[in-house]
Amino acid sequence: MIDKNKVIEKFKRKIIELKKHNKLYFNYDNPEIPDSEYDKIKKEISDLKNKYSFLNDINIESDFVGSPPSNKFEKIKHLKPMLSLSNAFTLEDMNDFLKKIDNFLKFQNKKVELFSEPKIDGISATLIYEGGVLTRGLSRGDGTIGENILKNLETIKSIPKKISSNDCPNLLEIRCEIFISKKDFIKMKDNFANPRNAAGGSLRQKNPHETSKIPLKYYAYGFGEVKPMIFKKQSEFLKKISEWKFEINPLSKIVNGVEEIEKQHKKIDQLRSNLNYDIDGLVYKVNDINLQKRLGNTSNSPRWAIAYKFSAEKAVTKIRDIIIQVGRTGAITPVAKVEPVTVGGVVVSNATLHNEDEIKRKDIRIGDTVKVQRAGDVIPQVISVDISLRAKNSKKYIFPTKCLCGAITKKELSKNTKKLDAVRRCIKGYDCKFIAKEKLKHIVSKEAFNIDGLGKKVIEQFWDLDLIKEPSDIFNLDFKKIEKLEGWGSLSINNLKKAISKSQIIFLDRFIYSIGIRHIGQENAKILGGFFSSIKEFAKLFDLKSRKKILINLAELDGIGETQIQSINSFFSNETNVRIISKLIERLNIKNFSIQKFGKFSNKKLMFTGGFQNMSRSEAKAIAENNGGKVLGSISKKLDFLVVGNSKPTKKKIDKAKELNIKIILEKDWNKILNG
Ligand code: IVH
Repeated sequence: MIDKNKVIEKFKRKIIELKKHNKLYFNYDNPEIPDSEYDKIKKEISDLKNKYSFLNDINIESDFVGSPPSNKFEKIKHLKPMLSLSNAFTLEDMNDFLKKIDNFLKFQNKKVELFSEPKIDGISATLIYEGGVLTRGLSRGDGTIGENILKNLETIKSIPKKISSNDCPNLLEIRCEIFISKKDFIKMKDNFANPRNAAGGSLRQKNPHETSKIPLKYYAYGFGEVKPMIFKKQSEFLKKISEWKFEINPLSKIVNGVEEIEKQHKKIDQLRSNLNYDIDGLVYKVNDINLQKRLGNTSNSPRWAIAYKFSAEKAVTKIRDIIIQVGRTGAITPVAKVEPVTVGGVVVSNATLHNEDEIKRKDIRIGDTVKVQRAGDVIPQVISVDISLRAKNSKKYIFPTKCLCGAITKKELSKNTKKLDAVRRCIKGYDCKFIAKEKLKHIVSKEAFNIDGLGKKVIEQFWDLDLIKEPSDIFNLDFKKIEKLEGWGSLSINNLKKAISKSQIIFLDRFIYSIGIRHIGQENAKILGGFFSSIKEFAKLFDLKSRKKILINLAELDGIGETQIQSINSFFSNETNVRIISKLIERLNIKNFSIQKFGKFSNKKLMFTGGFQNMSRSEAKAIAENNGGKVLGSISKKLDFLVVGNSKPTKKKIDKAKELNIKIILEKDWNKILNG
């Protein structure tokens, strides 16, 4: 009999070893062992995997590939942030996308023209041309700061190094996707899990000579900063840069309306398997660049573009067990442990069952044969059960009513629907160690403190070793203890120290988002950051009396509703939360949140009533904010302007504004201000 645990232990040890050498090789260009020895470790791992199929169950796929974010390249701020795209999965989602655009722009019978492009599954990069000469090339990084990978990008022959055309803008930033063709990937697939990882690993090599050996390709799909701006339409932009010898994807097309969207989608989906590069959907963009500008962005993604993903890949497998997981908001999620199955090139052994109601509705049981699906970066999910294959003695699954920490879980009553929430929650907050660990993972994540080298896995490891139990511990780490751990050398420790100390300087809005108050996402955190301005003001929430007053004022903010206010209240009513957050604040240098100071409404508070003819309320609000103003949701003495649209303004608000001596801006004056 083999000792399964021993095999797993050996396997994990080998993986850790491989990871260490990967890091040394890819990140520090300082291999400690010859290639032959490195290959030996890899072979040992693959032999073990071949011999013991249960090892497929251990989720280590990502550990094999490429390298984690490195510190070896110079970091440079992007001229304009590199955003990501929101996703659509159904035609209904696409309809919503179109509707939102029409509402924002106040288009009624005008149809907005779209441009559809394949969404290449590669690595994004940006190329900067000054006076037509390629001077900088950056990776996406965290979207705000990228890595200088110019030398590696220059090895891609088809990227123009110089644009000689007369009409090339002085400053031109081209955004593109770098990839490896499916054919080329076959030759290197022993080293990487998929073409995307291969492209990423190759681009981040320190030695451009090594990169030059890899057949990287690219398609240009967009622009960043352009001065002077000469492009009017996305379609024209691509045509122009193709004349300047950039590679553009030949499968792009102008489309109008949902029927054409669906037709194009089906057409490209059918071509998909015959293409020599991976795509995972189509990107639909508003073609008119002026309209793109009007639509603008939310915090992470543009309102003028969306990725319509191809339908998810599916596979059949069996449920071995059902376990529960606790999220950072206390949500209890049931997860099916399934027999490992490959779905779209990735081995799946866990699939979400969403919540208690979903299990009940589908009558999902341990032992059932089920269909699982995986779409893009979304967590794999169980979508249906084949009841005909169910064992006679199978039993209904009884959902646990307690959290893993032992506390009773609750379902909340939804204010809107007056129904019980489908999700059970543990309400212990930081007092539940499972929630606390998840909160830590959130705090170190990219959008929050963004600490390089302190990812989810490291948090797990440091948690188990009692190195980090609450957020302030991150800033008081026992590096003597870490030094002794496998995989941690002086270089990686130094990098971690640097990343942690860098993260201690943080803007108020990011800090608010990081502490993980339920219903306070990035957008709301920005609104709150603008409201409180400084950590000193924000910390007044800790005190019951001042909190009551503040919460009343918060209701004035456009975007903050009853749900958010209640959530803030319950977060700060919890003594453990207050203790933990206060301790964290002591360790940080929290910078005041400054809304854009310059602009027509610099530091002014505005409120809107009535509709405008040419723009939606959302657009008017975005314009006010982009021009330095703050938009309030109710009238008070603090208000500077009440902007009154011609269509059905509220008389009561106008009267109140007059009474308080607040300046009134009529629709025609509003338009004049904007154009002036
Ligand atoms: S447009 C504002 N077009 O997808 C973002 N992106 O999730 C504009 N991508 O980071 C992106 N093909 O790396 C755009 N034809 C295409 C694309 C594309 C691939 C990638 C790109 C981006 C990510 C967005």
